[in-house]
Amino acid sequence: MDLVDALSPLDCCPHFVMVVGKGGVGKTTVSILLAMELGSRGKTVLLSLDPARHLSRYLKLAGETGEIDRGIHVRQVSVEREVERIASQYADFLRELMPSLSVLNLDSAVDALKYSPGVEEEVLLRKLEEALTSGYDYVVVDTPPTGVTLRTLALPRLYMVWLGKLIEVRERIVSLRYVIARTLGRKAEVRDRALLKLYEMRSRFEALERALSSESRTSYVIVATPEPLPMHELRESVGFLKSRLGVRPKLLVLNKVLPEGLAAALGQLDAQRGFLEELRSYGASYALVEYLGRPTESISDIRELRNKVRVWRP
Ligand SMILES: Nc1ncnc2c1ncn2[C@@H]1O[C@H](COP(=O)(O)OP(=O)(O)OP(=O)(O)O)[C@@H](O)[C@H]1O
Ligand SMILES: [Mg+2]
Repeated sequence: MDLVDALSPLDCCPHFVMVVGKGGVGKTTVSILLAMELGSRGKTVLLSLDPARHLSRYLKLAGETGEIDRGIHVRQVSVEREVERIASQYADFLRELMPSLSVLNLDSAVDALKYSPGVEEEVLLRKLEEALTSGYDYVVVDTPPTGVTLRTLALPRLYMVWLGKLIEVRERIVSLRYVIARTLGRKAEVRDRALLKLYEMRSRFEALERALSSESRTSYVIVATPEPLPMHELRESVGFLKSRLGVRPKLLVLNKVLPEGLAAALGQLDAQRGFLEELRSYGASYALVEYLGRPTESISDIRELRNKVRVWRP
């Protein structure tokens, strides 16, 4: 059985595969394995926000894009560059909407935005949202550190509450402006660009929220190694997905599993078995990926690793 067999139902389009886990556990490696499998089923893109850019170790990326075999696309997103782009788009929009803002130094406000907390989450959210309409059947997301990912997944719901309030306030302003203009006998403007922008943002976040909290539209894959801290993050992630998004992970991956003989020789057999038991106890599909014996360094290493994957469905 392949890893993707554990992900069904795989409704598209697109179907998101979010690969989550502690730093260094093998998210990028597992993401490539999944993208290779999905590539034979449909148009696939592997989106990576990995700040360490481990993807470029495997692939010769021309700039930020590249291709794994059989037309599987790869996009390595540079958070800094995206923030730059988002910030200048916003500045342009604000200048156009409120020319009187020139009293405020918009450039320095935008500059501050680049270093504000939460920008990584915003970039990831935008990339997910762009992917919704990108024409791909499968979008594998090699996510940034767990905290950033989980906060990002909680954002659409939060934004919708916040946008709901903003829309309420703006609708009141627009209707008051209308009444005042009519009272004064002036032409009343009903079309309000700010309000249209808020409606547009709300419907985009609604669509994303629907996709991310649907088990058939998004598969959550949590990766850990047989060690206490990665397993702790796995536990936390399972809890978060359940409590905040109401979803369960489709697949739990234990990576860099040592062959039993070697684990015993290193005194790690009991711990490894204990973590495996825990993995089974969640009732989700799970996979074991054996340690290759050396760090994976090329696509051919990853192909070799495909033979070291075993998958179980409950
Ligand atoms: N099964 C495996 N066997 C051997 N080496 C592996 C295996 N899985 C991953 N590695 C190696 O472990 C290291 C971390 O893997 P990877 O970059 O995929 O992890 P990551 O979770 O994406 O890390 P980061 O959080 O830094 O992005 C890399 O050197 C990779 O080559
Ligand atoms: Mg990585």
